[in-house]
Amino acid sequence: MDTLGYLKTVLGNKKPRVAEIELTLFENCDVNCTFCAHEKSSVIGMKTEEMLSKIPLIENFLDEIDSDVEMVNLHLVGGELLQDRLIDGVDDFLARYELLISEYQRICERRQIEPRIILVSNMLTTKSDVVIKWLEKLNETVFVRLIASFDPFGRPLTKQYFLNLKIFRQFISNINVVVTKEAIRELKKGNEQFDRLYQEFPIFMDDFLPDVETSRMIPSDEEYLEYLELVVKKYPKLLPFGEAISKVLTQSPNEIQFTTFNKCNILPNNKVTNYLWERHPPESFVTEVNYQDNSNMLYRFIEENQCLSCEYYQSCPLRCPVSWSWKDRVRSKGCVNKRFFDSLAK
Ligand SMILES: C[S@@+](CC[C@H](N)C(=O)[O-])C[C@H]1O[C@@H](n2cnc3c(N)ncnc32)[C@H](O)[C@@H]1O
Ligand code: SF4
Ligand code: SF4
Repeated sequence: MDTLGYLKTVLGNKKPRVAEIELTLFENCDVNCTFCAHEKSSVIGMKTEEMLSKIPLIENFLDEIDSDVEMVNLHLVGGELLQDRLIDGVDDFLARYELLISEYQRICERRQIEPRIILVSNMLTTKSDVVIKWLEKLNETVFVRLIASFDPFGRPLTKQYFLNLKIFRQFISNINVVVTKEAIRELKKGNEQFDRLYQEFPIFMDDFLPDVETSRMIPSDEEYLEYLELVVKKYPKLLPFGEAISKVLTQSPNEIQFTTFNKCNILPNNKVTNYLWERHPPESFVTEVNYQDNSNMLYRFIEENQCLSCEYYQSCPLRCPVSWSWKDRVRSKGCVNKRFFDSLAK
């Protein structure tokens, strides 16, 4: 049995029942967040034909997902898909996305999968009136939602951003925040904008995956522990650890929260990976890198931390095994999740 097969067996009901297609149409973006390594001026993937060429790749993935998968999410991302210059009436990118979405609906229908499309955006568009009408129209026939990205450090946040959160409220499924060293520092200081969003939206705190240039932004294990302590003290609703804490306290089962299984990342140049991009060099990781399958990273995480004999195993969401495998991270001895869960019991 290979590592992937072994993990599927060992993890049992900790294996998520959700499949995820991360479809990065292009990297082009008109802003520059400090933690994001996208090639902001690249135009690869922006033509209609290039977008439609993703459909056979998605079909291949759908035909291979595990039979126990109950839901498939298609994450449509850039770059920034809703940049003003792409919605100016000359280059009508909304029409291109719509064409792609209708093709996706067609291939889902054939497989009796309910299409769920989630578009990830920086929410800076000033063409909100056009975009909201487009979303309303699409939602008459298909489920399309937004993930709004927010970061307390390194991301431009304008008045329009906060206005858009109100305008698009009904379509925003959640806010996404990247847990960098700087974000932890800002949250520890106290961030009013974050506190307001916390009252209004579900917030998912995503593990940061650095690039060689942004390696210094990855939190050390001790900083990650400080972040977990902040979750329990101040933000107990934050996903995924807020939820995990209550599950640990009630000893309820929990799935792993960072997908290794049934996940594909389709890149602008039509390369298909499990998560990593070609720009992530193998020498940056403590394990061997297989761009199609990161189960060896999860395997090493579980072995090194001895998760299978840990008292918190059934409730613990574990950690993103890829981000955890980044070599240049300041590591502590032992598992910080465990130290954190131990402190809850005191
Ligand atoms: C690359 S962005 C593209 C979509 C859109 N432009 C936005 O900012 O939401 C997709 C998501 O990845 C997050 N992200 C960017 N760089 C990241 C990194 N190095 N590690 C983890 N997530 C990252 C962003 O914050 C955003 O939520
Ligand atoms: S808005 Fe999105 S794509 Fe653009 S730089 Fe920021 S994270 Fe990257
Ligand atoms: S607390 Fe640590 S050792 Fe225990 S299951 Fe979670 S990640 Fe593994």
